[in-house]
Parts: sequence; structure tokens; C-alpha cells
Amino acid sequence: MHLDLALLGFGNVGQELAELLLRKRIELEADFGLTWRVVGISARSKGTALDPAGIDLEAALSAVAGGGTLAGLHQGPPLADTGAFIAACPAAVFFEMTTTNPQDGQPATDHVRAALGKGAHVVSANKGPVAFAHRELLALARLKRVGFFFESTVMDGAPVLGVGREGLPASHIRRIRGVFNSTTNYILTRMERDRLGFEDAVRAAQEIGVAEADPTLDVDGWDSAIKTVILANVLMGADLRPKDAAPVGIRDVTVDDVHAALAEGARIRLVCEAARGEDGTVRASVAPQRVPLEDPLASVMGTSSLVDFEADTLRRLTLIEHDPGPDTTAYGLLVDMLNIARGRHLV
Ligand SMILES: NC(=O)c1ccc[n+]([C@@H]2O[C@H](COP(=O)([O-])OP(=O)(O)OC[C@H]3O[C@@H](n4cnc5c(N)ncnc54)[C@H](OP(=O)(O)O)[C@@H]3O)[C@@H](O)[C@H]2O)c1
Repeated sequence: MHLDLALLGFGNVGQELAELLLRKRIELEADFGLTWRVVGISARSKGTALDPAGIDLEAALSAVAGGGTLAGLHQGPPLADTGAFIAACPAAVFFEMTTTNPQDGQPATDHVRAALGKGAHVVSANKGPVAFAHRELLALARLKRVGFFFESTVMDGAPVLGVGREGLPASHIRRIRGVFNSTTNYILTRMERDRLGFEDAVRAAQEIGVAEADPTLDVDGWDSAIKTVILANVLMGADLRPKDAAPVGIRDVTVDDVHAALAEGARIRLVCEAARGEDGTVRASVAPQRVPLEDPLASVMGTSSLVDFEADTLRRLTLIEHDPGPDTTAYGLLVDMLNIARGRHLV
């Protein structure tokens, strides 16, 4: 099988995906009979390149590594915006890796809608379209008989959605708990280990590139809320939005709180939870909680993350991802592409 690919977004994740595709080219062909070429890359300040004959990915990586743009790799008339790029790009698979908008998921939701609408598969690392329009986009994908996969939206490359979708058939997931945000977990870890105050721990996270210059989305719990809602909607049949999780962040947690908890055999963690109540309704929440040290959630340190499923079959199943990064996110995207090549969207 051959797939023509398009990359929407060419930042940390987009470039890691390009590197991974190049690194795995021989394996993909030998083990899966899959060949590929990239026919389009769309970014903002880095510009756009579209070439139906195939773009030299190494040249694209070199161009942006040197601070340049993709313009020199473009063939044909200029394209006004990402919408025009999607309309013109003949790719079979679009990777959505533009910036997540936590308010309404746009414009990425429009990107996904446009690509699915023209009968292309979509693989998204962007959480926005999934958190705000999962049902609509999945229905469109089914109508068009194409794939809409987004493994990397929760816990990067760890197969969290894949386990739910493929690994727990005929199961009812009653509860999902986890630590889904690396930045806040790193901050809490530094507050405990090095007795840093909240602000100093945020600065330490920024210095090593774990936290954004504006860490609001992470520390106020919105990133966690988006991921919790994705799991609730996709694996538990809910139809929640991030605000339904009413996230409480870690801004008010002090070093004294962290150490008082420890002295009493507990650790403060930003706990994400989606649970089905007696009445069948799924409710989501995100808040700092004291977690007993024997709870698996207490074992997650630094940037690692964890998900814990409770089901009527396996009872409890826990996955931990150690040391995630844009490269592990890229791996989740590659897995989604392979699942599309294997026709997993049709089952
Ligand atoms: N970093 C991770 O490990 C990770 C993990 C899970 C999920 N994600 C998600 O993956 C996505 C990418 O993350 P990242 O770390 O690669 O972010 P990033 O480094 O900021 O890259 C974002 C890219 O999107 C481009 N872009 C933004 N708006 C666009 C638009 N309207 N049309 C076309 N391109 C646009 C930017 O263009 P310019 O470069 O020209 O500005 C940039 O290339 C985000 O949605 C993020 O939430 C990331």
C-alpha cells in the first residue's frame, strides 16, 4: 500500500514525525508493505509547501532548522491559507499538528472537517477537534469510510485510546483516573524533591522546556480537563466539554501542603477522573488531591503520566508512560497511520 501524506503544522511534533517517518521508512515497507511520501506541509510563519510529486523531507527539515521557510519546496500558485492548502493538497492522510486552541478547538476542527469531507483520512495530535467535535467528526469519517484517529492527544504515544478501543472489547469502563499533564506533575515533583515554591518550580519547568512561557493551560488544569473529556467521550460514550470537568489547577498548592501530605503517607497529584454514576451519567473532574502512597497515581514522578482503567472485565488496568516528549507523540501518530493502512478504521 502507498500513502501520500500531508503535515498540518511543522513545529516540535511535525518535525519529529518527519524524522520518524524517514527513520522507519525501510521497516514500514518491509514489515507492513507500506510506502509513503509527503506531498504537502502547511505551517504559519514557516510557510507552506505543496508538491504532488513529493517533497524532499530532509530538505524541509534543513530549511526550518536553519530558521528558513518551506517556500523553496513549493510547486504551483501560492495558497492563501491552510483551508486553501487542504483543498488543493492531494494527500490520502492529513496529520493535524497545529496549535491546540482550548477555547473552541478552532481552526483545527475546520481543518479536520475539510480533510475528512474530501474523503481523506485524518490523524490528529491536536486535542481541540477531539474535545469539541468528536461525535460530529467521527460521524463524518464513518460516512466517508475514512479514518479519524488521535492516539497522541492523551499521554502522547502511549496506546491509551488503542487499549480502550482494541484491547477491551465487550467491556464496560466504569472509571478512568490518571495523571495526564506532565508540566504540573513535574512542578509538584520539584516542590516535593527540592522544596521549590510554586513560582520557582514553574520557572524550573520553563527552563528545561517542560512548561510553556505562559503555563496557564497546564497549571490551571485545562490541558488535563481536555484529555479527561476526550477519554470520557471516546471510551465511555459521554458527550462532555472541557468546562464540564470544572478544572481546579495547582496554583494554590504550597510546599507546606506537599510536605504535610507526604508526612501523612500521601502525595498531592493533579488527579483527572471520569466516572459513571449510579444513574449512568458520566462525570469528569480535575483537581489536586492527596493520593495515598500505595495508589499507583502517587508513583508517577516528573514528566511521566499514568492512566488507570476500571472495567467490568479486567477490573483494573494501569499504564504508565515514562519520559514523554514530541518524539513519543510522533510515534502515536505513526501508529495511527499504520492502523489506517491496516484498515482498522473499518472495523
Ligand atoms: N509537544 C508534544 O509533545 C505534544 C503532545 C501531545 C499533543 N501535542 C499537540 O500537537 C500539536 C503540535 O504541538 P507542537 O509541540 O508541535 O506545537 P508547536 O511546536 O507550537 O507547533 C505548532 C505548529 O503549527 C503551526 N500552525 C499553527 N497554526 C496553524 C494554522 N492555522 N495553519 C497551519 N499551521 C499552523 C505552527 O506554524 P509556525 O511554525 O510557522 O508557527 C507550528 O509549525 C498541538 O496541538 C499540541 O497540543 C503536542
